[in-house]
Amino acid sequence: MTNHLIIGMPKEQIPTPSLILDLDIFEANLYAMAKLFTGQVKLRPHIKTHKCPVIAHLQVKAGAIGITCAKLSEAEVMVGHGITDILIANQVAGYGKAERLGALATRVDVKVAVDNPANVDDLDRGARMFGAQIGVVIEVNVGNDRCGTRSMEQTLELAKHIATKKGLIFKGLMGYEGHCVFTADKKERTGECLSANKILVDSAQMLRDNGFKVEIVSAGGTGTYDMSGIYPGITEVEAGSYVFMDSCYSGILGNDVFRPSLRLLATVISKPQPGLALIDAGMKSLTFEFGKPQPLLQGATLTGLSEEHGRLELTPEADTLQVGDLVEIWPTHGCTTVNLHDRYCVVKENRLVAVWEIACRGMSQ
Ligand SMILES: Cc1ncc(COP(=O)(O)O)c(C=O)c1O
Repeated sequence: MTNHLIIGMPKEQIPTPSLILDLDIFEANLYAMAKLFTGQVKLRPHIKTHKCPVIAHLQVKAGAIGITCAKLSEAEVMVGHGITDILIANQVAGYGKAERLGALATRVDVKVAVDNPANVDDLDRGARMFGAQIGVVIEVNVGNDRCGTRSMEQTLELAKHIATKKGLIFKGLMGYEGHCVFTADKKERTGECLSANKILVDSAQMLRDNGFKVEIVSAGGTGTYDMSGIYPGITEVEAGSYVFMDSCYSGILGNDVFRPSLRLLATVISKPQPGLALIDAGMKSLTFEFGKPQPLLQGATLTGLSEEHGRLELTPEADTLQVGDLVEIWPTHGCTTVNLHDRYCVVKENRLVAVWEIACRGMSQ
């Protein structure tokens, strides 16, 4: 038993608010993506979405070559849970971080993104302190205008700099096309994605022409897995959100391939007047940077969130809700919603079948 959870209990008895994961839909999503990457291009799913070692292991078992993390502390937790091949698709900088990464590199195959020569020096120092070698990929800006080198010249200079470092192994390139994963029009998204992929693959070719071995060329999100995933020269895809399909992604991609598997289960705690119900889930259980989450109840709209209250406005047809009734809410943004919770209540045929820890919750360092 964990927090009043008993395997086999009906979903209706799960204490709320709780994250509910529909096992059948989740598994269908997991295998649908895995089966697309059994050839030359590999899947290295981003675990920022689920932050859960059990899910990471299921992804690897289904064929992923490893995982992508956003943060060093996420990678440390995943290594502690037995994951052995990790790309940190982000820069790791700041006091003590290079040493922690060096220590991690003595245990597993860890690769990290770089875009700056001083950071490269620091990581080299951290690796050599432990007699280890850290894999590095150069992050190339492919249009997202976040981190990443801004020109072929910068990329080449950085690769040359990395080659002088005994504590580092140059592995290749990454370039995340985050500026277009949410472009609603598929044709437009495809065009933007192909331009981004071209920048990355051309950069890889330029490095090969200059004598570098480029093993990894990593790109792709859930909005672009089927574009980056078939672009010649891309070797691995970093998509993550496909396992849950929040309402933001579902609104863009539809649910033909991947279906929504994640819900927040909440309880009506007050019904103070006609047309209004208050639920026990507010902004400590749900996030709303992509818009207010949707209750799965015809005629109900979530119109406000305070810390521990959600305000449901109800049309007459939905106004039968009573205190104690359950309401399921579809997160608009799965990745940030998950970070508010400690566990998934995994449900099959309306019964709790497993409880999976969100062990990387809050691992933002
Ligand atoms: C570096 C990186 N790779 C891949 C992804 C893909 O994630 P998603 O599947 O949510 O589109 C993200 C999303 O933020 C990212 O930051």
